[in-house]
Amino acid sequence: MHRVMVVGAAGLLGQYLMRAGEGMGLAMVGTYNETLPGESAGTLKMDISDPDSVARGFLAACPELVVLAAALTNVDQCEREPDRAYSVNMEGAFNVASECKDAAVRMVYVSTDYVFNGLKGTRYHEFDVPDPQSVYAKSKLEGERVTLDADPGNLVCRVSVLYGWNALNGKSNFITWVIDSLGRGVPVPLYTDQYVSPTYAPAAARDILELGLRGARGIYHTSGPDCLSRHEIGLRVAEAFGLDPSLVRPVTTEGMPQLAVRPPRSCLAVDMAEAELGHPMTSLRDGLALMRAARP
Ligand SMILES: NC(=O)c1ccc[n+]([C@@H]2O[C@H](COP(=O)([O-])OP(=O)(O)OC[C@H]3O[C@@H](n4cnc5c(N)ncnc54)[C@H](OP(=O)(O)O)[C@@H]3O)[C@@H](O)[C@H]2O)c1
Repeated sequence: MHRVMVVGAAGLLGQYLMRAGEGMGLAMVGTYNETLPGESAGTLKMDISDPDSVARGFLAACPELVVLAAALTNVDQCEREPDRAYSVNMEGAFNVASECKDAAVRMVYVSTDYVFNGLKGTRYHEFDVPDPQSVYAKSKLEGERVTLDADPGNLVCRVSVLYGWNALNGKSNFITWVIDSLGRGVPVPLYTDQYVSPTYAPAAARDILELGLRGARGIYHTSGPDCLSRHEIGLRVAEAFGLDPSLVRPVTTEGMPQLAVRPPRSCLAVDMAEAELGHPMTSLRDGLALMRAARP
């Protein structure tokens, strides 16, 4: 197994998948849509919602493993633009899965904790029944379905609230937004009633690639191991980066509604991935320490 194609190599996770693969000595080919991922590795332009574009990409790259990290990830934008959400997150996955099937190539689809309704009260396991509540979540669950329908040997890796430095473009993520706002003295309203499993993108990239290369099949939860409210995460970020915790302001979903419904507690159980990989998933404490050490 040498040639790995990362679809969506300019995204937050995609850029770390490229780096992780290069670090493992794999021949990495990255695809981009509009944002160029840089010149460090092979780059191909590919719009996953266009089957011809996907076919051309496969022809040029001849991959032996494909990791699909590209998606329309803005949850409220998906609610406003459902056609676009399904076209990228479901049809895009279908187009990639079909090419993989034709070429007898394994595929890894990156999915989300938001496939669950968040009402279970405890962590979700891979075998728990999804019940997506937003257009984003529904379109991602469809993406999972078409991936596993195309070949049950394919792999779905669910993550939750990805974070890390984005070296390729200025797009922020939840934690860089908190660091940036607190650093500028701007208060951040953070939900006390939305619990997630924050996922350090470089660690998830390594874990997802390892599972893909080992031939893991079906669904794995590859998030961080914690279950924290967004407000608790904000306080941890302030502590780790020496920022003013009084600027982390508690809000509730009822008091500050969002366009798309978010699950109240979509924390993921990661025992299966930990057992398969033979190491613990990266905690928020460790992820923040690694971020601090790698601060650009
Ligand atoms: N971010 C999170 O907190 C989070 C949480 C749970 C799950 N996930 C999942 O994790 C994966 C990676 O997320 P991320 O945050 O790293 O994503 P991201 O930074 O938002 O990047 C997504 C990438 O997808 C590309 N893309 C969008 N439409 C495309 C199309 N039609 N064809 C090809 N590429 C397209 C974008 O390229 P352009 O910008 O050039 O269009 C972008 O580079 C996604 O599958 C997401 O659903 C993310």
